[in-house]
Amino acid sequence: MTIRLCATHDIPEGEVRQVELDDGRMLAVYHLDGEFFATDDLCTHGDASLSEGEIEDGKILCPYHMGSFDIRTGEACAAPCSIAIRTYRLRIDQDDVLLAD
Ligand code: FES
Repeated sequence: MTIRLCATHDIPEGEVRQVELDDGRMLAVYHLDGEFFATDDLCTHGDASLSEGEIEDGKILCPYHMGSFDIRTGEACAAPCSIAIRTYRLRIDQDDVLLAD
């Protein structure tokens, strides 16, 4: 089953949006350097929504304690974050941003 997250034009370059899946999962979807990426929206350090954070140098900064994660790999980059966030493979079909798996 193909899951559509949003339209490409829904997320301006350099920004992030929260997307809720039908099963209740919350993702953060990013438009970065002309590509789209998705991670879990929930920070692994606490109850923070990463889509409310700032993007800086390919990383998402958590709005709570300013830990950060690499948007492409999910790797935790700055304390207090130490556990990676899950990343999702995406595919673009015309104007649609889709989950690839
Ligand atoms: S909740 Fe994200 S860094 Fe603490």
